[in-house]
Amino acid sequence: MRLTNRTLGLTASPIAEAHAWLAHRTGDRPLLDLSQAAPSYPTAPEIARRIAEVAGEPDGGRYAPPPGLPELNDAFAAELGADYRADLLGEHVLPTGGCNQAFCVATSALAEPGDEIILPIPYYFNHDMWLKLDGVTPRYLAPDPDPAGPGDLVPSPDRAAELIGPSTRAIVLVTPGNPTGVTIPPGTIRAFADLARANDLALIVDETYRNFRTSDEPPHDLFTDPAWTDTVVSLHSFSKDLAIPGYRVGAVVAGPELIYEIMKLVDCVQISAPRISQEAAIAGLRHARAWRAEQASRINRALDRFEQVMAGRPGGFELITAGAFFGWARHPFADLSTAEVIKRLVLDHDVLAIPGTAFTPSDDRWIRFSYANLDVADFDELAARLAEMAA
Ligand SMILES: Cc1ncc(COP(=O)(O)O)c(C=O)c1O
Repeated sequence: MRLTNRTLGLTASPIAEAHAWLAHRTGDRPLLDLSQAAPSYPTAPEIARRIAEVAGEPDGGRYAPPPGLPELNDAFAAELGADYRADLLGEHVLPTGGCNQAFCVATSALAEPGDEIILPIPYYFNHDMWLKLDGVTPRYLAPDPDPAGPGDLVPSPDRAAELIGPSTRAIVLVTPGNPTGVTIPPGTIRAFADLARANDLALIVDETYRNFRTSDEPPHDLFTDPAWTDTVVSLHSFSKDLAIPGYRVGAVVAGPELIYEIMKLVDCVQISAPRISQEAAIAGLRHARAWRAEQASRINRALDRFEQVMAGRPGGFELITAGAFFGWARHPFADLSTAEVIKRLVLDHDVLAIPGTAFTPSDDRWIRFSYANLDVADFDELAARLAEMAA
């Protein structure tokens, strides 16, 4: 049998690659794991209870209806409507097998081989991987090459305009960003939507970390435009917000016509998002608001601690941006590849992080640290271990 070059050309999951170093560790200090973006804490009791209940119900294991469970679509539309101060309806929501699937099916519906989609650097690696697998060319929107602060990592609509050509089909934004943690200001998101509309493109906004922002203001005003469905495709995940990454449930929020087309793709790969996971999401939306807010504020406190210890530039590691689950830092070793720095961090200093090369086409000395799963007591230890690198 022969495999396609598209598949062979992809690297394996950067998370799995980083984890492969663990087998070579010889030290006996407990590992500080800053590799994972997924919550390591259990889901809310209300959600766990509902999952157990559904498992015992007569239709618990049945396919869910392709458009999703109406209670989920309505509850999510209502929550988004309140958060974005807009009128959203259940028909705007299509549950998917996670936000990754939402991205894959949305982009496959919008672009075909040979088409281009604009992807700001640094990108979320699965976005880049999927586009390449699907034969779609990512057109990279470069950031400031030497960012001095978060503002420099906010994608620029003006620079995106220069990349638009006859094959462009969509622009992708991730806010708050993985790997930077940067929240794109609503005005910039609006400028991207205007640019997309003027060029008959889709604006795809991955909002996986929406509930880990530090502001209660609406993330953007796109849904308040009566014509939003012509342009906007908003992608969501329940993985982080409800701490159920293994249940695989997220959603596309878009116009009913696009949702109808995307359902054909979901039908081929998953029939419909898992019923038990949709039920878990309903329980989370209806009954776990306080628990969700508590997790988000705990992670925001972790952010404060992380920023405090990184302010001293331990070991010369310079934190440029942080937010949601992530810190985006530059390592000081101009003569080492980032892969080598990651290897030394894990083997010699018991710190596991992800190389920035997973999120950028070139090696610019970036490292992503996911601080969200660290205990408060671990932050000083992290700084001490990074400082060992300089010693
Ligand atoms: C930006 C972004 N989008 C999507 C996902 C995947 O989410 P899900 O578990 O809902 O597929 C992640 C997970 O790390 C992510 O960081």
